[in-house]
Amino acid sequence: MIHQACISCGEKYGADEILYSCERCGDILEVKYDYDVIEEKLRKSDWKSLPLSVWRYKDFMPIRPSSKIVSLNEGGTGLHSCQRLADLLGVKQLYVKNEGENPTGSFKDRGMTVGITKALELDMKTVICASTGNTSASLAAYAAKAGLQCTVLIPSGKIAYGKLAQAIVYGAKAVQIRGNFDQALKMVLELSEKHREVYLLNSINPFRLEGQKSLAYEICDQMNGEAPDRVILPMGNAGNISAAWKGFTEFNKLGLTNRLPKMTGIQAEGAAPIAQAIKKGSNKIVPVDEPETVATAIRIGSPVNWKKAIRAIGESKGTAETVTDGEILEAQKMLARSEGLFVEPASASSVAGLKKLLESGKIDRDEVIVCVTTGHGLKDPDIIMKTSEKPLEVDAEIESIEKLVGLARPIPATVVSR
Ligand SMILES: Cc1ncc(COP(=O)(O)O)c(C=O)c1O
Ligand SMILES: [Zn+2]
Repeated sequence: MIHQACISCGEKYGADEILYSCERCGDILEVKYDYDVIEEKLRKSDWKSLPLSVWRYKDFMPIRPSSKIVSLNEGGTGLHSCQRLADLLGVKQLYVKNEGENPTGSFKDRGMTVGITKALELDMKTVICASTGNTSASLAAYAAKAGLQCTVLIPSGKIAYGKLAQAIVYGAKAVQIRGNFDQALKMVLELSEKHREVYLLNSINPFRLEGQKSLAYEICDQMNGEAPDRVILPMGNAGNISAAWKGFTEFNKLGLTNRLPKMTGIQAEGAAPIAQAIKKGSNKIVPVDEPETVATAIRIGSPVNWKKAIRAIGESKGTAETVTDGEILEAQKMLARSEGLFVEPASASSVAGLKKLLESGKIDRDEVIVCVTTGHGLKDPDIIMKTSEKPLEVDAEIESIEKLVGLARPIPATVVSR
């Protein structure tokens, strides 16, 4: 039977109970399955013949067979072999799982397709979230598709413009609060506990994370059942690294991969409570009161999923690292210029982290590595314009252009034809 359970005391709750923390001890919840039942379903299903997508893995999801699935074609993102970048960094085999290829341009869509489908199962009419940007864009889109009311709380002036535009155009009530993400999350939690008709779809909602675990399934399937040695992800609220680890362990339990990757989480230096705890060898975080980073998507000081993340990193024998804003922006350009992949700053932190961990010798150069890039670069063009060389400008004359871009004088036709 599918149910929810507390990650600390193990208290069980029904799959249709609407709650966001354990009533006994207050800790967060996770979704549990009977894996024999999933195995039986898989035996009878044609899932392997379906295209790569979140719903290829329907048998692994906590959704009733009769439910109306709300989908915008999420998942099925590219696992790009990045040999040019691998050579630059000095690592043997590197792949980038580019989650910016999702419908609203981030990995959040994997979670929202399941979360909104669950909201309809529960007959909810309104959904809400706090967001550093991408969650609001994704929730707004899926709510629109499902015909639900949507409210998003965002830290005023601290989300990338593209994301704000998305939330607005999809018709969400976008509320900017004078405060940071952590405060916004506290407020939406309070609101959804007070107004039971409002369904909260932050990553504290374990059903949303079930959709996000499909990231791991896809990586295994794209590598023909071989999980890589290591998966590197940016961490903010730390739902994604936790979800991905759940996905890998489930595929392993079901005999669909015989290897498990080392989960490696990267945080921006000014917002790094989990990475700091891991570096100190502590299994408890010290929240950061005023997180700050250019990577606004991961500007989070008190991540709700920190226990799940520390467990994932510990169980997988992975690690965590911090990167500076400068390192993030350098990695963003390096990835774009060597591989043609334009990702937002938070996403580039996975590449920046890989570079740093290779340089310090904490990652073996022979490992097969997957960096997850979580959101599309076009969400935040401002940062590029602020930090890059300006485009060249000349009069509309051939000679001026030739001079500017360094084109040699053409060879005379008589010489060419000889
Ligand atoms: C682009 C991007 N990367 C990474 C993250 C962090 O994900 P998580 O909060 O699941 O750790 C976010 C979260 O908003 C994001 O938008
Ligand atoms: Zn509990």
